[in-house]
Amino acid sequence: MYLVFLLTLLYAKVPEFFRAPPDFGWCVATAAHQNEGNNTKSDWWDFEQKTMKQSSGKACDHWNRIEEDTKLLQDLHVNQYRMSLEWAKIEPEEGKLDHEAIEHYQKEIALLHEKHIEPIITLHHFTMPQWLRQKGGWLWAGAPEAFANYASFAIKHIAPHATTWVTFNEPMIHIGGGYFWGIVPPNQKGSIKNVVLPLLGVLQAHAAAYHAMKHINPHLRIGVTHHMRVFAPYASWSPFDHIMARALDRSFNWAFLDALETGSLKLHVPFALRHQSLIRQVQKTQDFIGINYYTRDFIQFHPFTKNKMILHTREPKSNLGWEIYPQGLYNILHETHERYPRLPILVTENGIADQHDEKRSEFLKTHIVATLQARSEGVPVQSYCHWTLMDNFEWLEGFHARFGLYAHDETTNTRTPRPSAKVYRNIILKGGILGKPFTSHAHKLRHHQ
Ligand code: FCB
Repeated sequence: MYLVFLLTLLYAKVPEFFRAPPDFGWCVATAAHQNEGNNTKSDWWDFEQKTMKQSSGKACDHWNRIEEDTKLLQDLHVNQYRMSLEWAKIEPEEGKLDHEAIEHYQKEIALLHEKHIEPIITLHHFTMPQWLRQKGGWLWAGAPEAFANYASFAIKHIAPHATTWVTFNEPMIHIGGGYFWGIVPPNQKGSIKNVVLPLLGVLQAHAAAYHAMKHINPHLRIGVTHHMRVFAPYASWSPFDHIMARALDRSFNWAFLDALETGSLKLHVPFALRHQSLIRQVQKTQDFIGINYYTRDFIQFHPFTKNKMILHTREPKSNLGWEIYPQGLYNILHETHERYPRLPILVTENGIADQHDEKRSEFLKTHIVATLQARSEGVPVQSYCHWTLMDNFEWLEGFHARFGLYAHDETTNTRTPRPSAKVYRNIILKGGILGKPFTSHAHKLRHHQ
């Protein structure tokens, strides 16, 4: 009996206080199209009018409420804010700049600096000017130069004091959604091979912008935010499920990231795609790694049937049916550091669709423990950005997926803090969190491979 008690004490996970260093980035993340409203010159606006029941419309009317929304950030006590610029508003027609939009962003960014909130600025968060889409988007040979010009303009004239920049948000989702599933612009459903050329286009645009920006200011920190998921085999006895889970992990999670280090894009999906190409100017074009982490998928794979692959999820789930799995964030942080030991890591998105705020507080706590624990074990995580400030236009889900720390009412545009906003604020004010540590990473990695 005594021995059992002793062993329980030894092996039970005892809560610990995980402290963030004083310069840790406490952050919330947003995207312009989802919040600002009236992004009428963008490809997404056009797509919404043609195909969706609900359009982004005036979204959260953030465009007209930057003072009010900066106040919300101050109330949370965050010291960083990840936001995006809308290229379609800055350059609504090719080569023609909109000075009102430029002044608007200058004002918003000045406001953040004034309140000691550091902006982390995304240049491309899923949307592009409609003129660029009409020219072929990332398949157009002039796209890298156009993107680099826009990026250079932004660092010179819009946010010269911002040091952390994201060129692209979630390239795999952006291109997979547009050219494989064909559910978002440019709506070109096709075989998995269709993603190769636009992905190469994005890599080229990223590299062109990276070099142009560094040429202007070598001290900038530039990176990409990657959507990272845990892919696990559905049946642990099935070699097919294992093979596919591993292939998805390599292609979806790591292929683009690897390319930013090596210059070589390698995609391998069993029975569907094998590709390798080298673009030298892409080598070593990231100064940090941005991780957007939400969930885990269980992969069931039958290579010889028509419906080859089925994705499953487990409880507990969000309103969108995404499994809540904080251990996955902990594992991915460790794995990323093992693969890229030279690079700092930022958690650039992590959040939950939870309309009634029943699970968000616990979600926040466990994912912040995962982040700070990994940090305490040597992973150089420098920021945690919660997705998102307030409910907004959640792309294909319209307004019904509610990810906000603040509830947003679309008819009155009022913002109301949810109880979880207070929980996040208290964590920030305490500079850390008490929580049960996660299982050490080496053991768990085997589990999700
Ligand atoms: C991410 C997107 C972000 C938001 C969240 C829920 O994939 O980057 O804009 O839609 O998912």
